[in-house]
Amino acid sequence: MDFTKVARSAFSCREFTNEPVSDATLHRIFDVARFAPNGGNRQGQRVVVVRDPAIRQGIVELCRPAVALYRAQLAVKESPYNTIEPSTVDPVLAPAPVDDAMLVPYVTAPVLLVIGLDLKVVASTDRYLDRVGVISGASIYPFVWSVLLAARAEGLAGVLTTLLASAEREAQELLGLPEHVAVAAAVPLGHPIRRLTTLAREPVESFTTVDRFDGPPFAP
Ligand SMILES: Cc1cc2nc3c(=O)[nH]c(=O)nc-3n(C[C@H](O)[C@H](O)[C@H](O)COP(=O)(O)O)c2cc1C
Repeated sequence: MDFTKVARSAFSCREFTNEPVSDATLHRIFDVARFAPNGGNRQGQRVVVVRDPAIRQGIVELCRPAVALYRAQLAVKESPYNTIEPSTVDPVLAPAPVDDAMLVPYVTAPVLLVIGLDLKVVASTDRYLDRVGVISGASIYPFVWSVLLAARAEGLAGVLTTLLASAEREAQELLGLPEHVAVAAAVPLGHPIRRLTTLAREPVESFTTVDRFDGPPFAP
């Protein structure tokens, strides 16, 4: 499949058919994704292929409080988990979700990938800045996205989710991950029930400027 078509149509899929995803297919996907760039080529990605239903249900339970807070913040029109705007929501009072669309794929997808990042090998060049870190993620999310693009090229689809990180210690215990392996993403993967062909994204001119942030919009 042509790259432009893959990139423009890799939608976030949360509903899957029962068709299984074989280990051979997954291996092909990882074999492509391993070429993603990462700081210093230290290749800190760690992937756990989760098929065990009990572990997957455990992941749902760990994510439930995170979904509760996410929904409660959305309900009062806040940008969930934002570090700039203070939240008015008390996480303890957020109502626990049942069968939430954000939780269901963790158990209904044919396979769930938990993708970790070995922090022992990551260069976090923003580590001394007084703001939330973003650079460490640059050594793992190109890999995660390449997994999703390679899956798309195989006729599969999935969704990049990060809720599990909010219960990282418990997730590490559940999955046997060492403490220095951060939980970067949980990616349900399978054959989509339906395909979304048009993705809602802002045009290039809305986020690109010339020379300075307050410069004119970039428009050829
Ligand atoms: C960092 C990140 C975290 C996300 N977390 C979740 C999540 O926890 N659950 C979920 O269903 N989708 C999650 N998504 C998927 C986004 O909701 C999705 O990319 C966005 O709504 C656009 O949808 P589309 O790709 O189908 O157009 C996440 C995406 C990113 C990049």
